[in-house]
Amino acid sequence: MQREELVIVDNIEKQAWKLLEDAIIYYQDRPVGTVAASDRSQSALNYDHCFIRDFAPSALLFLIKGRYDIVRNFLEETLKLQPQEQLFDAYTPNKGLIPASFKVAFTNEQEYLEADFGEQAIARVTPVDSCLWWIIILHAYVKATKDLNFALQPEFQQGIALIMELCLATRFDMSPTLLVPDGACMIHRRLGIYGYPLEIQVLFYTALRAARQLLICAGDEEIVIGIDKRLPLLQNHIRHHYWIDMQRLNAIYRFKGEEYGEKAINQFNIYADSIPYADLAIWLPKHGGYLAGNVGPSQLDTRFFSLGNLMAIISSLASEQQSQAIMNLIEAQWEDLVGTMPMKICFPALEKEEYRIFTGCDPKNIPWSYHNAGNWPVLLWFLTAAAQKTGRKKLAQTAIEIAQTRLFEDEWPEYYDGTKGALVGKAARRYQTWTITGFLLAKELIRNPNYLELCSFEEFDGENASQACDL
Ligand code: GLC
Repeated sequence: MQREELVIVDNIEKQAWKLLEDAIIYYQDRPVGTVAASDRSQSALNYDHCFIRDFAPSALLFLIKGRYDIVRNFLEETLKLQPQEQLFDAYTPNKGLIPASFKVAFTNEQEYLEADFGEQAIARVTPVDSCLWWIIILHAYVKATKDLNFALQPEFQQGIALIMELCLATRFDMSPTLLVPDGACMIHRRLGIYGYPLEIQVLFYTALRAARQLLICAGDEEIVIGIDKRLPLLQNHIRHHYWIDMQRLNAIYRFKGEEYGEKAINQFNIYADSIPYADLAIWLPKHGGYLAGNVGPSQLDTRFFSLGNLMAIISSLASEQQSQAIMNLIEAQWEDLVGTMPMKICFPALEKEEYRIFTGCDPKNIPWSYHNAGNWPVLLWFLTAAAQKTGRKKLAQTAIEIAQTRLFEDEWPEYYDGTKGALVGKAARRYQTWTITGFLLAKELIRNPNYLELCSFEEFDGENASQACDL
């Protein structure tokens, strides 16, 4: 890089750090989180809240910089928002839930934290991912500070246990995956992702891995046994039933339907005509593959969802071979998946009748916009982490180069639109915090791959899980 360019990039980073500092929320004079966006040109709606999922990259950055207090305060305050009792009446958050977001509010000039468990959210969507992200952030905090005692405090053990109880609860179905309603994660609008969406399954897996290490020393027997049983089943299920590559596509294409009983090969009764096999056969490179967006009864959602696939690499939910294949696919289909802004939230977009049926004619999610295949700069850090984990640093460097000047010039938008991400998102907020932190975290991960340890896991080894606690 030329000297002049280096100075520009340096200034971009300096501005980003400053913006992150300005995004910090204070409660009773203590820093407790970061706002979702600081765009004064648009109505705040709930963008003045601290979202749990949005805070994850902020938390990792604060931990990297030794600003442990913010993350500790965040964990303590959000834990206090977790309901401890089951009220058994509808419209109240269930025991164990962590809110989607919170903000500082006032009554009689007294500050308090107002939480939103989805009861205020547009379309009243359920934030299933919050409690999973909360455990992942707690795990990262313990890794960074080496203060396991923090997580061993009774209220934290209780908090983790309540989340685990929610996830491992007795329920109707027998699948190792989590059954959730539409819009239960980063995509929190209707987009045909009800059932067993990949993002939730991967976060579930990662949270189980994290909880396993945080609970171990306290010896919460029943939950630990539950986690140990669930982890390998969940891993096998995803690696087998969600995987799509040329070989698997061939098998699916020739699947027989209507198989009953134990010996069924096409267990979910997938009909080849329901998947775009001709397009996929062209799109899939020889050594590439990915995890499907969703698998359920006669359903195989073949859309590529970035967060789920990248986090599957980071958490080792995908096997080593699968992880390499996912990166091969991203490299081979760079124009589609990364284009002019890393990277697409999902690909391809739902169009025409599918768009109308699955989104409910949502004007915010028109094809190639927002959740419906828009480009989200926050995904840059997931891409960088996955690239580091698979030894594909060059891919991450190229992605960062594409993003940095543009993000700065466009004032850090929330998302981009268009098939290649060429347009600033139609309703995108500017100064979106996780756009800023996604960029900064990607930079930090490139500089020091050791930071990856804060959020990544090695291949699950059931044998040694019981001696875990290797934080
Ligand atoms: C968007 C995203 C959601 C995020 C929120 C706040 O609506 O879909 O995942 O948490 O904005 O940034």
